[in-house]
This record gives sequence, C-alpha cells and structure tokens, in this order.
Amino acid sequence: MSAGLVVRPAAGPLAGTVIPPGDKSIAHRAILFNAAAEGESRVEGIPGSEDLASTLRAVSAFGVEVKREGDGIARLRGRAMAFSEAPGPIDCGNSGTTSRLLAGLLAGQDFETVLTGDASLSRRPMRRVVDPLAGFGASLTAADGCLPLVIRGTQLVPARCRLPVASAQVKTAVLLAAMQATGESTVTEPSLSRDHSEIMLAAMGVDLERDFGGSGGQGLVADPFVIPPGGEHAVSLSGPRVPTSLDLRVCGDISSAAFFVVAAVLVPGSVLRLRGVCLNPTRTGFLRVLRSMGADIEAVVEGESAGECYGTLTVRSSGLVGVDLAEEEVPFTIDELPVLAVAAAHADGVTRIRGAAELRIKEGDRVRAVCVMLSALGIKVAEHDDGMDIYGGTIRGGVEVDPAGDHRIAMSAAVAALAAEQAVTVLDPRVADVSFPGFFKELERVSSS
Ligand code: S3P
Repeated sequence: MSAGLVVRPAAGPLAGTVIPPGDKSIAHRAILFNAAAEGESRVEGIPGSEDLASTLRAVSAFGVEVKREGDGIARLRGRAMAFSEAPGPIDCGNSGTTSRLLAGLLAGQDFETVLTGDASLSRRPMRRVVDPLAGFGASLTAADGCLPLVIRGTQLVPARCRLPVASAQVKTAVLLAAMQATGESTVTEPSLSRDHSEIMLAAMGVDLERDFGGSGGQGLVADPFVIPPGGEHAVSLSGPRVPTSLDLRVCGDISSAAFFVVAAVLVPGSVLRLRGVCLNPTRTGFLRVLRSMGADIEAVVEGESAGECYGTLTVRSSGLVGVDLAEEEVPFTIDELPVLAVAAAHADGVTRIRGAAELRIKEGDRVRAVCVMLSALGIKVAEHDDGMDIYGGTIRGGVEVDPAGDHRIAMSAAVAALAAEQAVTVLDPRVADVSFPGFFKELERVSSS
C-alpha cells in the first residue's frame, strides 16, 4: 500500500480547464474490436490507466501486433477474428471490462484460455457472462462463479438471450459471441445499458438492429440532458461478421470528469471547464441528477468521434438539495454514484438511492464503502440492500479513508475533503491509477490556480 495523501479543505475556488483522460469503456472496445477486426488501425486517446494496460497486454498475448506511438496512441494490426493461443493465463488485473469482453471474444476461438485477475476482480461475478455464452454452445468454467475463468473456444451457434440485469459488459460479450456464430442472434437487456459497443461496431461496418420496445420511441436523442428510453432494449445481428478496422480518437471519460464536476459544484466560487468529454446520454445520468439537485452545469456538444458525441462542460458552484434518485437513471449513473453520494452529503435534505444493488459488485461493495466513508466523514447514512439514504449536512473530515483498493472511493474521498471542515487522509492514493493516473496532481492544479 502506498503512503496516505493528506487532502486539505479548499482554500479558495476551483478554476481552470481539465481535459480528462480518454474514456475507459470506449478505449477497451477500441482495442478489443480493432484487435478482432480486419485491417490496421490507429487509436488515439487511450488512457494511461492500469485497466487499459491489461487490455493491451491481453491482445498482444493473442498475437495482435500492437505498436505504441507515444502517449495514448497505439497502432493495431487486427486478426480478422482469428487469434492465436496465448502462451499462458491472461491476467486481467482489476478490469472487469477486460475479463468479460474477452470471454465473449474467446468463446469462439479454437483454443483454451485461462483468465485471472487481482483479488478484487477475483471476487466479482462471472456467471453473468458464462450463462448467456453457454446458449451459444460456448464452454466456459468459473469455479464458484468467479475467476479463474477457463474458456475452451468452439464453433458457436446463434442464440437469443435475455439478460437478467442490464450490463454493458455482458451485452458486449454476447455481441462478440454472436459475431462468431452463423445466423441471427439477439440479446435483450431489461433496460438500456451504456451503448458504446453498438455505436462502435456499427462504425466498423457490423449491421446491428436495435429495438427500444414500445416505450422508447425510435431510440436515443444525442442530448446529454435527455434521459434515454426506458424499458427493454434488444440488439440483433447476423453472424459471422468480421468488423472493419477503425481509426479513432477516444473522447474524454465522463466518469473521471465527474470528480471535478462535483468538486466545482461544492467549492464556493468555483468555475471549472471540462473539455473533450464524451457526452453519450447513457453516461450522463449523474449530470441530470446533479442538475435536479440544483447544480449549475452547462454541456455543449461540439463534435462526434466514431459516433460518440463529445463536448465541454462548464460547472459553477451552487447549493444543492437532496433528491430521490430516479431508478431509471441508476444504470446511467452507476460508476458516478460514489461521488454523487459526496454531493448528496453536502446537500440540504435527504438523497435516496434505490435500485442500485449492482453497486455492491463493482471493484468493491460500493454501497458499503460509500456508507462507511460518509459516516467516518460525519454524515448520517442509512444503508439498504440496493442503495442508501444520505442525510446532507456538514462534512467534518479529520479522518483517514481507506479505499480498500477501489479507485473511485479514493477519488470520492478527495472530493469530500475539499468541502470538509478538516483535512482527510486518503490511504493508498495510488489506486486512482486504475482509471485516472495523475488525478491528485490535477486536483491540486485546479485548486490552486
Ligand atoms: C462498463 C460497464 C459498466 C460499468 C463499468 C464499465 C463497460 O458495468 O460499471 O465500469 O465498459 O462496459 P456493467 O457491465 O454492469 O454495465
């Protein structure tokens, strides 16, 4: 464990511009899909995070030629859906996305692979990919439902699967299996999860049909403040399909930007700009929730990169009031709930979060971790099976927070410290490197500029 880092209450407003690292979800897909594609590609904006290092190492192990061209740039020569056997087990580190997406890709490859991970990933559920992939005739075994996952690749058959929970990782694993089966497959999720895979595969020439059911009209509106359609979402495709390689620039990670957004809302007098941020509406739930709490956030869509819209956020500090978070927003807010809870801790009144049982099986049990953190900081919370009630008040601070290996808890604690009465010591701050290397330096830079 690295030494603790003392984060002091903000001495003045936050100001300036932050360019967040490239989006983790999009970057994983850009590498994995281009590794599976026909042709050469150049991907820019890959975050220097440990999770992406896991994905890059994995594709290299399957015979994909990867050339690094300086910061955040990689050239890949795709294998047209035919990988070679890796020399040994693949260590996915802390990255759930790496492990679940690889499961779908490897299910149709003619060799055996063992996926492993760190202690946290080894506790996370893998049956959620094993079960739907079994419908394609895939042979995957995960003792106790967790890593190590043994995948014996085989010729896949098409399938129709209905996922019990909305999960972009599982949906993507299924789509990658469907691309290797001959015939039409469909995956239906109970509600829409982030749709980067659908967007990127379409841009790589894979014909997908999306059905938003009766309730959702024709689909998504490219406005970060318009909530995407609720209800079932189905994606169908006919295999076999080999994607065509795609050069792309990964836009900024809104989940990383979220820590700065909340910090600027909480610290009086702040005006902060976040540039180049992915504004896909399946990722902007926390902006909508914060606005409903009274936050002053502008979002201007400025362009599109491989079908993903991106733009600038301008955030000004303001008072907040507690809200009942709409359950339909939970899948679109899931990674930002820890830092949203910090905003709720500073709001007037109670914020109720429900329907977030998935939060317990992320990099850690984030329902428990957030409740423990906020209580230590002096905030009253009530823990529920699928969420929590946060009674806004004064963040006292003056404590140590142990993120227990969870990057988003470490960064949330730092944001809480800025709005606290006393300093907070974040233990093991290096865990932030999983998604945002340089996070604490960047926070210091905008705090003192
Ligand atoms: C991700 C999907 C989400 C999210 C995770 C990244 C992805 O999980 O929490 O951090 O890249 O597909 P789900 O699979 O539960 O949607």
